[in-house]
Amino acid sequence: MGRASSGTDLGAYLARRPPRVEAALDALVPREGVFPGIVHNAMRYSVFAGGKRLRPLLVIASAEAVGGAVEPVMPTACAVELIHTYSLIHDDLPSMDNSAIRRGRPTCHVVFGEAVAVLAGDALHALAFELLAQTPAPVSSVTVVRVILEIAQSIGTAGMVGGQVLDLLGERRPNLPTIPSWPREAGAAVHDIHVRKTAALIRACVRAGAMLSGASPEALEALSRYGQRTGLAFQIIDDVLDEVGEAARLGKEVQRDAIAAKLTYPAVHGVAESRAIAAALTGEAVQALDPLGERGRLLAELAQWLLHRDA
Ligand code: IPE
Ligand code: IPE
Ligand code: MG
Ligand code: MG
Ligand code: MG
Repeated sequence: MGRASSGTDLGAYLARRPPRVEAALDALVPREGVFPGIVHNAMRYSVFAGGKRLRPLLVIASAEAVGGAVEPVMPTACAVELIHTYSLIHDDLPSMDNSAIRRGRPTCHVVFGEAVAVLAGDALHALAFELLAQTPAPVSSVTVVRVILEIAQSIGTAGMVGGQVLDLLGERRPNLPTIPSWPREAGAAVHDIHVRKTAALIRACVRAGAMLSGASPEALEALSRYGQRTGLAFQIIDDVLDEVGEAARLGKEVQRDAIAAKLTYPAVHGVAESRAIAAALTGEAVQALDPLGERGRLLAELAQWLLHRDA
């Protein structure tokens, strides 16, 4: 990732949080000695390959932005990272993006084979919901159910899975049935793909952290806007980095989207305009935090940092 903006405590915050998330994840994901060892091995291989841990950070930072504590949101922070890792394992499969490198390592299916990779993704997905359901007091069970609903909706056909389907349709894959409203105008299409496949979960992370911390309706609305814009900008920059980034920094192959003829922001708008759109969205995200006052500062800095990242 790029450097934190100067004169802020963002760098220190980011350095402080991940070890806590790492330790929690380490305790949660079963080891090889537990049946079925091969699947646990594959799960751990992908979860502990690195990764920015952005989604757990957003859960925690959002909780803190509304005056909440870290402890009650830790299961959710871990759960969203497990969901994200599952989505990456499946995204990399030969039948999807056919990617060979992820988080600086050979992808899960390259090491463990496709069947185990599919099952490792499935198991991470299930483990995430086990964790969410085990959210401790003082969070009420009504709130826990609301958070589970929120996250489930963000990754299902209305969210990430729907976005992944449109992403493949955008490639005009011959084996996918066309749908009457698709393809549509390219700018609207790529916006739709990215809102669903990436922004939906990022928005849900921010909302979950706030909901678990008893946020007011106004704060929740502000954070929802922030999460949606930050999430969309995040995927736009991911597309830009696929085009102009460095594989060694990113820990994944580059220029794959163009080869697959994917519908990306750079393909539709060019790199410079894509960066400008991401910057405008980041501006909107930061502005959305106004009602939170000083408490929104860290999230604002995080959004800026993500805009300028190189990994
Ligand atoms: C990559 O996500 C996939 C997208 C949704 C763009 P990240 O860039 O957050 O991947 P890791 O977790 O750091 O590996
Ligand atoms: C993946 O988008 C989004 C997911 C929901 C997993 P990409 O396919 O662009 O992510 P990378 O570039 O492989 O990380
Ligand atoms: Mg993909
Ligand atoms: Mg991919
Ligand atoms: Mg990408």
